Amino acid sequence: IIFATGNEGKMREIRLILADLGLPILSMKEAGAEPEIVENGSTFGENATIKAMTIHKVTGKSAISDDSGLCVDYLDGRPGVYSARYQGEDTPYPEKIAALLAELKDAAPEERTARFTSAICFVGEDSTPHLFEASCEGTIGYECRGENGFGYDPIFYVGERSFAQLSGEEKDAMSHRGKALRLFAEELPQLLK
Ligand code: IMP
Repeated sequence: IIFATGNEGKMREIRLILADLGLPILSMKEAGAEPEIVENGSTFGENATIKAMTIHKVTGKSAISDDSGLCVDYLDGRPGVYSARYQGEDTPYPEKIAALLAELKDAAPEERTARFTSAICFVGEDSTPHLFEASCEGTIGYECRGENGFGYDPIFYVGERSFAQLSGEEKDAMSHRGKALRLFAEELPQLLK
């Protein structure tokens, strides 16, 4: 199965979460397939489907993808599907995070609710896309904490700790991607029949 991402953080997480399946999972780089993917969908599900279908068409192999992002209630759901492109695609995360915290400077603690959402799309040999979606509720903190994870993890808090303060296993147990991948893993035996 080829995982349609160039994101190292996601690749690490998916390998850990799906390790029990015993299936070889290749990154696009390892599979030698790095086509340009135009993520012009307006939902996580649409973008996940675009990514997995593109890789499946180019390689003829089974593909999975994750489209995910951070939806902040105070910002009416932004950055949402634009999470990777927020403040510019190549802008380093410390800058993206500083901009997000600045947008929330007047938000009271109870107004800082947010969720990460992940849509996983699997496309098997019959070329039919199957979607699995899950979220993880949390709040946006006032400062970065922790060194683990990637992206917006240092400001996304579940209870007292940020995602970046959790071990890989702790994050996977509660994260949007962990939950969506477990839904996928439960269905996989059926999908491979
Ligand atoms: P995508 O790769 O186009 O799906 O963009 C997903 C973006 O959402 C990432 O680049 C991060 O900015 C953000 N994101 C998604 N999942 C996570 C996570 O688990 N931790 C931190 N940031 C995340």
